[in-house]
Amino acid sequence: MALLDVENLEISIRFGHELLPVVRGVSFSVDENETLGIVGESGCGKSLTALAIMGLLEGSGVRVTGGRMRFGGRDLLAMSADERRHIMGNDMAMIFQEPMTSLNPVYRVGDQIIEALQQHRNLSRRAARRRAIELLDLVRIPEPDSRVDSFPHQLSGGQRQRVMIAMALSCDPKLLIADEPTTALDVTVQKEVLDLMLDLQKRTGTAIILISHDLGVIAETCNSVAVMYWGRLVETAPTDALFETLAHPYTRGLLHSIPAIDRDVDWLDAIPGRVPTIGEQIAGCPFHPRCPRAESRCRHEVPQPREIAPGHLVECHFPYGGDR
Ligand SMILES: Nc1ncnc2c1ncn2[C@@H]1O[C@H](COP(=O)(O)OP(=O)(O)OP(=O)(O)O)[C@@H](O)[C@H]1O
Ligand SMILES: [Mg+2]
Repeated sequence: MALLDVENLEISIRFGHELLPVVRGVSFSVDENETLGIVGESGCGKSLTALAIMGLLEGSGVRVTGGRMRFGGRDLLAMSADERRHIMGNDMAMIFQEPMTSLNPVYRVGDQIIEALQQHRNLSRRAARRRAIELLDLVRIPEPDSRVDSFPHQLSGGQRQRVMIAMALSCDPKLLIADEPTTALDVTVQKEVLDLMLDLQKRTGTAIILISHDLGVIAETCNSVAVMYWGRLVETAPTDALFETLAHPYTRGLLHSIPAIDRDVDWLDAIPGRVPTIGEQIAGCPFHPRCPRAESRCRHEVPQPREIAPGHLVECHFPYGGDR
């Protein structure tokens, strides 16, 4: 059994009297020492999936409306709020998309780490401060003894992201979810932050879920990949297998849309059309209006996931590498 097992997860958003599904039945698992990459265009449900695992959707008008999630064999959805909070504080941690929104600008970064440590570990303030400095050192913040007393705005974007990682690691999580941890950073700093996460994984065996727009980043970092489109995982595979075949036309589109050098290019342009909106009704395969391989069957029949190689699942009637 994997550390985290997500089965047929459905998440819906309340619009007036209606509950509209936005994550529409996704399944995946991740084990210790593994890194799973979730990739897909903006709005496809990546962050909501992460927040659902963390138990952070409560009270937001967004709810889990179906499926199962097990963590260490325990049913996350059947737990009391207290048990859930305990797991969130001790066994799971998340690095959020925008570090400035999750660091409090009016508190020194050290105090924020100390508070996290004191909440979850029974440490004196002195011991927590010592541990905070160690953590800042671990995430390679220079001069941690003095930086511990900095305010968030006194740090660079890369350093703030590292502080977030230090906070996430303060509880030695079994699972770390990193939601676009590097988009706001320049390429060199991106690489450093990712290397840092993998380094820590080598030391502690933490399972990582890395969410990104960038298939290139995922390729370099992850053991397996889940490609998300409009609330579905349309292709899931071990990284090598995925890149060998690129079976789903959407996955190919994502790959071709990675701008080589010029990051100003809007990569969405490379896949024609747009992601359907929440609540839109599309007959057949949800990707067919944008798909270069679509045939009449795709307009009428919803593709079911099928395994084209061990562990390689694709939701497409006419995947590349398959029979036509
Ligand atoms: N609290 C909310 N209320 C209403 N709609 C929401 C809420 N949170 C998310 N959504 C919508 O749900 C959809 C999925 O959102 P989500 O944040 O998971 O996308 P994402 O894949 O993380 O996108 P991005 O790559 O831009 O971060 C989006 O259309 C978003 O606008
Ligand atoms: Mg997001």
